[in-house]
Amino acid sequence: MASDSKPHVIETGTVPATAAAKPSFGRRVAAHYKRWWWVHLIIFIVVVLVVVLPVIYVGYPHIAQHDINESTLNITSMAISDPTPNSFHLRETQVIGSDSAFKPNIYSFGAAISLLGGAPFITVQIPKFKAHDGVEVDVDQDVNITDTTAFAEFCKAVLLNEEIQMNVYGKADLKEGSLPETKITYNKTTSIKGLNKLEGFELVDLSISTSATSGNNGKGTVYIPNPSPFTLTMGNVTLDLSVNGTAIGKSYLTDLTIYPGNNTLPMAANVSTLTVAGMLGSYPTLMLPVDIVGNSTVYNGEELPYFSEALAANKISVELNVTKALGSVL
Ligand SMILES: *[C@@H]1O[C@H](CO)[C@@H](O)[C@H](O)[C@H]1NC(C)=O
Ligand SMILES: *[C@@H]1O[C@H](CO)[C@@H](O)[C@H](O)[C@H]1NC(C)=O
Ligand SMILES: *[C@@H]1O[C@H](CO)[C@@H](O)[C@H](O)[C@H]1NC(C)=O
Ligand SMILES: *[C@@H]1O[C@H](CO)[C@@H](O)[C@H](O)[C@H]1NC(C)=O
Ligand SMILES: *[C@@H]1O[C@H](CO)[C@@H](O)[C@H](O)[C@H]1NC(C)=O
Ligand SMILES: *[C@@H]1O[C@H](CO)[C@@H](O)[C@H](O)[C@H]1NC(C)=O
Ligand SMILES: *[C@@H]1O[C@H](CO)[C@@H](O)[C@H](O)[C@H]1NC(C)=O
Ligand SMILES: *[C@@H]1O[C@H](CO)[C@@H](O)[C@H](O)[C@H]1NC(C)=O
Ligand SMILES: *[C@@H]1O[C@H](CO)[C@@H](O)[C@H](O)[C@H]1NC(C)=O
Ligand SMILES: *[C@@H]1O[C@H](CO)[C@@H](O)[C@H](O)[C@H]1NC(C)=O
Repeated sequence: MASDSKPHVIETGTVPATAAAKPSFGRRVAAHYKRWWWVHLIIFIVVVLVVVLPVIYVGYPHIAQHDINESTLNITSMAISDPTPNSFHLRETQVIGSDSAFKPNIYSFGAAISLLGGAPFITVQIPKFKAHDGVEVDVDQDVNITDTTAFAEFCKAVLLNEEIQMNVYGKADLKEGSLPETKITYNKTTSIKGLNKLEGFELVDLSISTSATSGNNGKGTVYIPNPSPFTLTMGNVTLDLSVNGTAIGKSYLTDLTIYPGNNTLPMAANVSTLTVAGMLGSYPTLMLPVDIVGNSTVYNGEELPYFSEALAANKISVELNVTKALGSVL
């Protein structure tokens, strides 16, 4: 190291002489590699294996899982149709958010859907998609209800709450570019707006005829607001009407489907005018506080306990203007 400043001078002055006397550094290196190239190759391979393999087989799966963990899930629409006691058709649109630089392919996988903390009630086959920020994944398939109790809890939660926490869980294969496939665990809980006890429900109008001798004696209109992204096909819904604990009749919503937004729907009713007339003494304003609760939900002749129970758990209170409802009769 003491000759650090000298080589410069030697090389410029007597290059040919030095080269002849002693092989140049470059030649010595070349000779070294010519003889020991295999050692270097082995070292190179070992370094590649030690550095690259963990990156591919540890680092990359870790990054992939990390990015999945960090991604967001937003269910923008969820429609239940063709319900039977043990199955239904599901159309669902979800938007995945991610700030990752990777845009891997995620292969189709089965995702178990549950209410956070509850048991899964359906498995949805998520189609293959390329993950990037804002990617929309659509599901349109028949699903079997694997746990009817858990599904009934879910329906109840959807109907009664302003917001629910839904969990989506599955294991998927992920592939980024030319890197090998890696397994990721998708475990995401997302908030979805619920129907919030049908708050805002209104009996827009109801007229009860006293002349009807058969069939239903009342018909009217109800207003059902639905602030959630759920579309619920319920079928023929029967509701119990009561005043201060005394049954006054039933109301019927035929082929009920509640869409997101405002629903204004026709309603039929069968009200005992005799019972109502007997109560009017207690309600001098002639405004009856009517309680409405679900009695049954029947689709294609089959009772759907999960919807019936949810509607039975939700008491809706409306004021019935008896003067208006019974009109000229009074
Ligand atoms: C992903 O989240 C799970 C818990 O939800 C955690 O156990 C795991 O360590 C996370 N993985 C990465 C790579 O961040
Ligand atoms: C989810 O999507 C809805 C409708 O597109 C949007 O209004 C809402 O802000 C989104 N929520 C999140 C957390 O991205
Ligand atoms: C649902 O179950 C029925 C039999 O119980 C089966 O034939 C059908 O393939 C299942 N559907 C799905 C989507 O798993
Ligand atoms: C998914 O993550 C939640 C916490 O975010 C945890 O409570 C739950 O047990 C996880 N699910 C599974 C199946 O591991
Ligand atoms: C309506 O109620 C009356 C008794 O209050 C009953 O006789 C009639 O059958 C009912 N109509 C229907 C369609 O259920
Ligand atoms: C409601 O019912 C209770 C008993 O069940 C009774 O004490 C009360 O007076 C009733 N209210 C009206 C307004 O009829
Ligand atoms: C639903 O009706 C309410 C008023 O009752 C209104 O403020 C709201 O904009 C309506 N929503 C839609 C989607 O039409
Ligand atoms: C439904 O109505 C029938 C007849 O009024 C009654 O016997 C039954 O208990 C009701 N069921 C529920 C769940 O309220
Ligand atoms: C509802 O009831 C009506 C009349 O009884 C019937 O025609 C219709 O098929 C029923 N709808 C469903 C979905 O079961
Ligand atoms: C009930 O309806 C009658 C007739 O439509 C109307 O004159 C009256 O103002 C209504 N009562 C209330 C409290 O709205």
